[in-house]
Amino acid sequence: MPEPLYRIFDSSRMNRRSFILATSSLAAAAMWSSRAFGAVTRQPSFSDYPFQLGVASGDPSSDSVVLWTRLAPKPVAGGGMKPEPVEVSWQLCDDDAMTRVVKKGKVTATPDWAHSVHVELSGLRPDRWYWYQFKAGNETSPKGRTRTLPRANSSPEKLRFAFASCQHYETGLYTAYEHMAQEDLDLVVHLGDYIYEGPARDGLVRRHNSGEIFTLDDYRNRYALYKTDAALQAMHAAAPWLVTWDDHELDNNYADLVPERHPGNDIPFSQRRADAYKAYYEHMPLRLASLPKGPDMQLYRRLPFGRLAEFFVLDTRQYRTDQPCGDGRRAVCPEAMSPDATILGKRQRDWLFRGLDRSAGQWNVLAQQVMMARVDLETGPEVMHSMDQWPGYEMDRRRVLKHFAERKIANPMVLTGDIHSNWANELIADFDQLDSRVVGTEFVGTSISSGGDGAARDPREERLQAQNPFVKFYNGQRGYVRCEVTPAMWRSDYRVLEQVSKPGAPVQTCKSFVVESGRAKLIPV
Ligand SMILES: [Fe+2]
Repeated sequence: MPEPLYRIFDSSRMNRRSFILATSSLAAAAMWSSRAFGAVTRQPSFSDYPFQLGVASGDPSSDSVVLWTRLAPKPVAGGGMKPEPVEVSWQLCDDDAMTRVVKKGKVTATPDWAHSVHVELSGLRPDRWYWYQFKAGNETSPKGRTRTLPRANSSPEKLRFAFASCQHYETGLYTAYEHMAQEDLDLVVHLGDYIYEGPARDGLVRRHNSGEIFTLDDYRNRYALYKTDAALQAMHAAAPWLVTWDDHELDNNYADLVPERHPGNDIPFSQRRADAYKAYYEHMPLRLASLPKGPDMQLYRRLPFGRLAEFFVLDTRQYRTDQPCGDGRRAVCPEAMSPDATILGKRQRDWLFRGLDRSAGQWNVLAQQVMMARVDLETGPEVMHSMDQWPGYEMDRRRVLKHFAERKIANPMVLTGDIHSNWANELIADFDQLDSRVVGTEFVGTSISSGGDGAARDPREERLQAQNPFVKFYNGQRGYVRCEVTPAMWRSDYRVLEQVSKPGAPVQTCKSFVVESGRAKLIPV
């Protein structure tokens, strides 16, 4: 008898790590109720321009989108606001000149949430562009553009989006976003490492504002530093974003409540996580459903683009078990094969499988962080996998690919960031049988700036591709991936820059692939 595909080991042991965090959702909700505000300042004066972090929008649906800004006249010095609630008005128009007002209102920006503003709109018309702006006191924000998605039961002919990740401020400029802003996109998907937590270092392109960040103030100032970048702001103002985090929004390679290492201070990691997650929420265009509750925050969610595509935004950090076998690159070790090792956590995995089963999407897109394909990273005779990626959680990867295949999920497409390089991978049914059938596609997108200028080729590339024949493409430059999706075809263009150490680098497409609907096969263009 041939071995069944996707052998998944049994376990009678319960997952001890799930749901261990006590939360205080009531306390968090109270901060949003009006009675918590006290006297609201309606005509505030500011020590400097309060909209220096720009505007953003995100998590669109067919009738709704979130508008975001934060009042911060002194961005990297705690924001520079007096500790009092401030009234912010907003308006939404259906023209670029902001003459035809569709909706307007007022919200209160509170010191508890760093004077951030999240306006969750409703009752909008589907599949339309809108323009928005905020006002506080006599100051008016930059203008942003956003859109709603097509109706869930409609059949859109086209979706254009780009995905990006890893924007280390010190190692490069955000020139990639200048080009992305010219791309006429419906949506931007960010796969994490929006900030990096590390200390300021000398001799790089730019400089962090402080030592390694640990406290709520630290995280707020770091987000503010990143968000002062003009290209990043312009891209946020150009289209709605769908964001998820990876590790550096908190701590390199953390897993659930396990930090990378002891930081040499007394801050419990759960406190650091609560502060990092709170600052993330404060700086992202997220819905109230993602409001953090202590060290917990609901970030995995679903977003249908009509019946054309359904996005499943995953969180592979908050619920994962500790990296097996000491993390790093390892030969296959028993812990990585354990059925208890999980990168999604059972609850998120069940949610994903239920969602995939019900999805009406022609293309089912997993927007997530770390490489899913089981790439052997050692060019010598040994086999080495990254324990921080899906191969460190082998049974979870098998469960997902098994679900794709057995439930005949339409066109599973996995979008990945994390490793600062471009890859195109065919996800094969059984990575021990390299000729097994392809059950999904993985596009790994490079970094915006992390890693510095980079190089198109890697000296180890041919060996790596030879021993990993499901890898169809590699490139080590900076940039992003632009995707155009139609009912019949998915196209991904790897958009890259020669350098991020100096401004003005042009963008070019170094490689394109298409996938035909119903045929999980990467076709080079
Ligand atoms: Fe990164």
